[in-house]
Amino acid sequence: MAVKVGVIGAGTMGRRHLEALAADPRASIVGVADAVETVAREAAASMGARPCRDLAELAGLGIEAVFVTLPNVYHASVVLEALDRGLHVFSEKPMATSLRDARRIVERVAASERVYQMGFNRRWAPAYRYLRQELERGFVPFSANVKMNDGDMLTPSWYANAAISGGFMYDTAVHLVDMIAWLVGPIEAVAALGRTSCYPDYDDIVMLMRCRGDRLVAFTTCGHASWAAPQERVELYGDHALLVSEDLDRVRHATREQPHAEWQRLPSAGLLDLWGYIEEDRAFIDACLGDAPPPVTARDAFHSIAVLDAAYTSIARGGQPVPVPEA
Ligand SMILES: NC(=O)c1ccc[n+]([C@@H]2O[C@H](COP(=O)([O-])OP(=O)(O)OC[C@H]3O[C@@H](n4cnc5c(N)ncnc54)[C@H](O)[C@@H]3O)[C@@H](O)[C@H]2O)c1
Repeated sequence: MAVKVGVIGAGTMGRRHLEALAADPRASIVGVADAVETVAREAAASMGARPCRDLAELAGLGIEAVFVTLPNVYHASVVLEALDRGLHVFSEKPMATSLRDARRIVERVAASERVYQMGFNRRWAPAYRYLRQELERGFVPFSANVKMNDGDMLTPSWYANAAISGGFMYDTAVHLVDMIAWLVGPIEAVAALGRTSCYPDYDDIVMLMRCRGDRLVAFTTCGHASWAAPQERVELYGDHALLVSEDLDRVRHATREQPHAEWQRLPSAGLLDLWGYIEEDRAFIDACLGDAPPPVTARDAFHSIAVLDAAYTSIARGGQPVPVPEA
């Protein structure tokens, strides 16, 4: 039997997940909700699903799982309501825009028997899968240099509004915070400096992180560079070896013996595959069916929020190192 799925928030990401889910016969898209009626109607019609206004209406259709693809500030309340209604939840990032709400979600997930999966799609992107495979084959990163920049913060329109986004880093940098924790190790302390250069939010932030095992990471992120590639780059420094990724599909593994190793461009079957959405959504349906645990858990999601909370606290304290809170 296919898992009956609803999607709430039919903007860019809602539509991407609808397309990814439509490729999985184990998922049946039953309803699509959006605060804007015409948006809900169009997105639902494209999937042969019912348009809805809110989660209550979606739940009334008998859905078993919901994709929460709303602007950031709404994630926590809708996720908590969905768990209370007994639904499996896939939540787009960030988990929440406050540590307190993130903690409430961790507790509620632990007390439920429902799946919660966080939308850290980069874990399925070809370049990051490659890095992770190299680590599993024995590469040990002692330190790393990471950067991520956005060309602008104009789309969607709420992006530059910290009251809705939670702050610049809750929207975009949060992905690479998860990558750092996944590739280098959980982040134990962070020191950050920030400035507001082109937007009324901190849009230039530079961080120093200490990960478990005393591994060190420098992470720079900014919201106003051009869209020139690479928008993101990860360099992992090992024992006379270097692993580098640029964007989602370019990688290089250099060693002392082969310092000029060629760049590899890893294949993907289109945008949804390149960004990892297809596999990410498949993994969620696996978890709903009880075939595998969710690959990105509430604790992983909480860690990313705890790191951002520590980073913004550090900025407020002029760059003082701040320990990352536990769940
Ligand atoms: N993982 C990724 O690669 C990725 C990429 C982009 C965005 N995102 C995340 O996806 C989420 C959505 O981003 P987006 O770019 O699709 O935004 P968007 O503005 O394009 O879409 C949001 C939709 O939600 C609707 N909406 C707003 N408030 C609502 C409410 N209270 N109830 C019902 N509907 C409501 C809006 O009408 C809109 O259609 C954000 O959390 C964002 O951080 C993730």
